[in-house]
Amino acid sequence: ASKTEFDVSTVEAGQLVVIQWQGKPVFVVNRTAELLAQVDGHDDRLKDVNSEAIPEVQQDWMDTPEKRKYRAIKPEYLIVVASCTHLGCIPLFKPTQGRKDWGDSVPENWAGGWHCPCHGSYYDISARVVNGSPAPHNLHVMPYKYTSDTKVVIG
Ligand code: FES
Repeated sequence: ASKTEFDVSTVEAGQLVVIQWQGKPVFVVNRTAELLAQVDGHDDRLKDVNSEAIPEVQQDWMDTPEKRKYRAIKPEYLIVVASCTHLGCIPLFKPTQGRKDWGDSVPENWAGGWHCPCHGSYYDISARVVNGSPAPHNLHVMPYKYTSDTKVVIG
């Protein structure tokens, strides 16, 4: 099917699930208040703060600074294509702040989000790419809409 229906309330707080849309994996994250707070304070570390670099993946609802920051219709639920914009690997969800086990490769002020295992790109908790990463762009937001409080239709 070209469209995928999904109930976001099935995702536990702070967790990520991977669903399929048109044969592609898609991340759905239930962002807690703590995770939402991680979108702030590092604009200067991001390649494309407002996701303006690729006009064709802009969505109509991205019409306020708030929506551009959270990159979601409902801030609690981030829904993005699970494909690194470098060469298409699936980034790993690393929402926790201060991952010391990555040593010097962790960018300064990176609060957590995704880390791509292939060539080391970092993304923040809104899936915006961090400076110094080989990935050129933020993870893509695909078209979707809510058909009830918790049901989304993707595509
Ligand atoms: Fe993700 Fe290269 S595919 S960094």
